Amino acid sequence: LLVFSLVFYLVHVYHKRRDLFANIPPGPKPWPVVGNFGHLLIPSFIRRRFGQQQDSTDRNAMAVLTEQANTYGNVYSIFVGTQLMVVLNGYEVVKDALSNHPEVFSDRPDIPAITIMTKRKGIVFAPYGPVWRKQRKFCHSTLRKFGLGKLSLEPCILQGLATIKTELLQLNKESGADAAVDLAPLISNAVSNVICSLILGQRFNHEDREFRNLLDLMDRGLEICVNSSAVLINIFPLLYYWPFGVFKELRQVEGDITVFLKRIIAKHHETLDPDHPRDLVDIYLLEMLAQQAAGEQDSSFTEDYLFYIVGDLFIAGTDTTTNSVLWILLYMALHPDVQDKVQAEIDEVVGTHRVLSLTDKGTLPFTEATIMEVQRLTVAVPLAIPHMASETTEFRGYTIPKGTVIVPNLWSVHRDPTQWDDPDRFNPARFLDDEGNLLRKECFIPFGIGRRVCMGEQLAKMELFLQVTSLLQAFKFRLPEGTPPPSLRGRFGLTLAPCPYTVCVSPRR
Ligand code: HEM
Repeated sequence: LLVFSLVFYLVHVYHKRRDLFANIPPGPKPWPVVGNFGHLLIPSFIRRRFGQQQDSTDRNAMAVLTEQANTYGNVYSIFVGTQLMVVLNGYEVVKDALSNHPEVFSDRPDIPAITIMTKRKGIVFAPYGPVWRKQRKFCHSTLRKFGLGKLSLEPCILQGLATIKTELLQLNKESGADAAVDLAPLISNAVSNVICSLILGQRFNHEDREFRNLLDLMDRGLEICVNSSAVLINIFPLLYYWPFGVFKELRQVEGDITVFLKRIIAKHHETLDPDHPRDLVDIYLLEMLAQQAAGEQDSSFTEDYLFYIVGDLFIAGTDTTTNSVLWILLYMALHPDVQDKVQAEIDEVVGTHRVLSLTDKGTLPFTEATIMEVQRLTVAVPLAIPHMASETTEFRGYTIPKGTVIVPNLWSVHRDPTQWDDPDRFNPARFLDDEGNLLRKECFIPFGIGRRVCMGEQLAKMELFLQVTSLLQAFKFRLPEGTPPPSLRGRFGLTLAPCPYTVCVSPRR
């Protein structure tokens, strides 16, 4: 009877799944067990691994995914293992799903490696629902306070830039104008310091041991999660507890970050002054205490939740902005004519000596168009963060079963030939009208679209503007003589980083 029941149950499940999957979007035939992922991405992985010659036409994973749409249409299916994923391509489809059907497509999937670490709390990977909504609304409005007024992060960004400038000038003096410089650590330090000011209320000296330690831990944690055998946790979650190798190291790194952040939160609690909140942690703690005082028993505002939000902001706000600045400076070195034009505009409007400020935003259209054009072509978070269908739904003639992972391919939106002329060409002028004024284009969505749109968009735009304009006002960036330009395919982890590169930096005055 037991065997009969089991067989009956399995047949029933099989038929239910077959019926549910009868009308899913078309897609490449999956391989048994591994699904399509290996088939689509392994060829590019092998090329990268074995250092095959790469040039600017070399395709990355996003280009491979975008190409599939030519065969299967803008809504197609792939499988990772047995998990169905639907890839959305092109502006109309992505907008239709995320803006017109937000109630269905705004959830996040339960990815074992991430769930183990985030407990599905915080904002980035929290399920769509009332808790996420309240937390996001509160944090979003708090972030806005750091754009203007006495909590403004502008002085902090400018201070970071002053440090970068001093270090570049020093390097120039010591090693000459032809020395090749890796800009990544300088930019990363400055960006991380902005997040530290936002969350922890303090900037750190770049050499500070505690600061270096935190950045190293975050880097290592991300590296393990994305680029090591720890990804197997997503298939066999129990591997997380394996007492050897990267699994053990991952738990160690996670433990160290937890101790660091919990200590910071406890310190804030001890020194909290309700009349003078210093940073986001203070503002959150005050809200938490207010809700407790009001007797809200089931409030989600707790120190535990705050811990996951702080982690989210560090992860979401550092690599994204750092990589965007690095891409922009790389494009400037690759296109000296555009760099000259940007510098001429800054010289004319701001001058050669005055420190740039946020009030200059809106007065430098060509510079802003250039920043946007690099963001369009490079897309820092090219596949957004995975979404999930929270119920079975009909979408564009197909059935999308509940639990399907939805991948909004922002890369394809920014190269959608129905929206952009000659989409692969670098052309900042596409963001300008005939009078040279900045054009806002709806299909430009580097921060995503819909309910899950990036929460730090305003802060990121502020940082990109100040960093790029200030550095280009002060320095000229060019590729070292005789070295081939780096491949523009980038390195895809959680975000799309440029392949490591160096540039020669010379002061303009
Ligand atoms: C989510 C882009 C900087 C906080 C996202 C998403 C994208 C994105 C594409 C996913 C949207 C989706 O899932 O549909 C970027 C880019 C940045 C940047 C390109 C820099 C140039 C920042 C900064 C912060 C931040 C500075 C905070 C300090 C977040 C958060 C989410 C998010 C919290 C999750 C939102 C949610 O799930 O509700 N970002 N981001 N981001 N970003 Fe950003």
